[in-house]
Amino acid sequence: MTEQAKAEDRNTLAQLLLDHPPMVRELPEFAVEGLPASPAELFGEWLTEAFRAGVPDPQVVTLSTVDTDGCPDARVLVLRGIDVPGAGLVFAADADSPKGRQLAARPRAAITVYWPLLGRQIRVRGVVEIASPKESALDFLSRSPWSRAASLVGHQSEPLTSFEAYDSAAREARLLLEADPEAIAPGHTVYTLRAVEAEFWQGDAARRHVRVHYSRNEPGAIAGEWSRTLLWP
Ligand SMILES: Cc1cc2nc3c(=O)[nH]c(=O)nc-3n(C[C@H](O)[C@H](O)[C@H](O)COP(=O)(O)O)c2cc1C
Repeated sequence: MTEQAKAEDRNTLAQLLLDHPPMVRELPEFAVEGLPASPAELFGEWLTEAFRAGVPDPQVVTLSTVDTDGCPDARVLVLRGIDVPGAGLVFAADADSPKGRQLAARPRAAITVYWPLLGRQIRVRGVVEIASPKESALDFLSRSPWSRAASLVGHQSEPLTSFEAYDSAAREARLLLEADPEAIAPGHTVYTLRAVEAEFWQGDAARRHVRVHYSRNEPGAIAGEWSRTLLWP
């Protein structure tokens, strides 16, 4: 690309950013009266509404963790379920991946999601519980052969020297699964983020965003009653 073409692209991007303010569309009302006592219940209600509204992949959320140097890290992953009584958000990952190691060293995390069609954001912070190897193995066996084979490849986030190296590891994983359908990826782990606080954010084109914050009555606790407060936009 020539320098002139690059400069033109930069101008185009600047114009695109100016021309596209977010949330300029009809957005739902967020009635703050009579909300569920637990944020996990409201998370479930909003996620159901997101599916029904046709938001693509609304169950894909951002998981933020912290490494041992205190540096934040984040990536998206699939939410597997909501444990309403335990105010938990359930996901699965490889314990040998960077996020798995970060969670083993510092079992604290945040989950964030934004659904553009609805102009809704949810933020949850809390403590991460790591399921037992038996529970994680059962979760692994409940998955499709395709998903199990992909997990059995392993080495997530390690440098890949060639696509042939991946293809060969994927072939080996498929052969292993054919020979032993009960084979389990050793690092496969189920995690539950137990909420300590949560915020539900309903965007408004006129910037009169509605924000509801849930916190535990006992600060930092992962059990007990919740309080709700409105926040300034
Ligand atoms: C739509 C989507 C769904 C994903 N789902 C998962 C998932 O459920 N579990 C997971 O470990 N990684 C998932 N990933 C991959 C992660 O974003 C990330 O690349 C990978 O887990 C490595 O992260 P790490 O290096 O921080 O450990 C998904 C990625 C995308 C784009």
